[in-house]
Amino acid sequence: MTSVDAPRRGRRQWRGVVEEYREWLPLLDGVPVVSLGEGGTPLVRSEWLSRVVDGEVWLKVEGDNPTGSFKDRGMTAAISAALRDNAEAVVCASTGNTSASMSAYAARAQLTPIVLVPHGRIAAGKMAQAVMHGASVIQVRGNFDDCLRLARELADGYPVSLVNSVNPIRLQGQKTAAFEVVDRLGGAPDVHVLPVGNAGNVSAYWLGYCEYAAAGMIDHRPQMWGFQAAGAAPLVSGVQVSHPDTVATAIRVGNPASWQLAVAAREESGGRIDAVSDEEIIAAQRELASRDGVFVEPASAAGAAGLVQLVARGEVRSGQQVVVTVTGHGLKDTDAALQGRQLVDRVVEPDLQAAAEAAGLR
Ligand code: F0G
Repeated sequence: MTSVDAPRRGRRQWRGVVEEYREWLPLLDGVPVVSLGEGGTPLVRSEWLSRVVDGEVWLKVEGDNPTGSFKDRGMTAAISAALRDNAEAVVCASTGNTSASMSAYAARAQLTPIVLVPHGRIAAGKMAQAVMHGASVIQVRGNFDDCLRLARELADGYPVSLVNSVNPIRLQGQKTAAFEVVDRLGGAPDVHVLPVGNAGNVSAYWLGYCEYAAAGMIDHRPQMWGFQAAGAAPLVSGVQVSHPDTVATAIRVGNPASWQLAVAAREESGGRIDAVSDEEIIAAQRELASRDGVFVEPASAAGAAGLVQLVARGEVRSGQQVVVTVTGHGLKDTDAALQGRQLVDRVVEPDLQAAAEAAGLR
């Protein structure tokens, strides 16, 4: 037995979402798991948003996953299944996080990762991850939707497995986030808020809540509130966006693959899918970092931005329990974080007086 396996003082290491929730994942019955210990991410109370909402707001901090985003939950499932099916190569289209995650899990499984990303439009941190994990990175002169079409065509015509969320096993893995929320809170929240891009995550959470409700684990299901960036909000307008544009590159998607599932989640939960501006996203990103100590990438702040917007419009009842999923780590996109800010405000000689003055200390 290795020291990692040996329980110390009754505690054991979190085993990753497939092992932790195996009985809820029949599609993976008997399949050996490729895992990096994903999931088990913290629920952190947001004092800032709790005050804004006049209720109880929790952040589900998905940047704490192994590759820094929620994508790892679905990827452990997808890559495990691909290995079982004797795949040799895996492909995905991505705005960055899916490609980072797929590349890491593929490396672990010794499968060849091929990623298609919009040319010049993904954050450097995510690109670095794919490169380091040995992916064949193909930049496409087009947007995410073009990349997804190509990825589907490659999987149809060549010996590669598609692991975008159109592969249903991905949503199976991702639904475990809803289980974790319930298991930690001891029940379902009143409202679950999250950013929406390709619309897999909102669909996966809804699937998780529905399964727990059907099994009698919770007595109600939350309203699902999704937020898209205003420049990439097809689910709000009801029509595809041919040139999606937003500072939140991760959710720059004009034709979401899980469109119907997301609409069903909204309708069945009595929820909503609304749009937030880039300014609202950036403001929420800064508040999360400076007030709650949680640094997320711009797309991840869309949910918090939406909540603030709805409170300002008087559309949020006080006294509710709300969970906001923040989907990816801020370190993935430091360019966005530093945009318009001077990295170092003050430069001084190595002198106590000068340092104290610059710091505003008296
Ligand atoms: N937040 C982040 C940080 C993301 O990377 C994504 C999606 C979303 C939210 C939206 O989730 O697509 O399930 O509605 N990123 C995909 C990618 C498109 O390729 O990494 P969704």
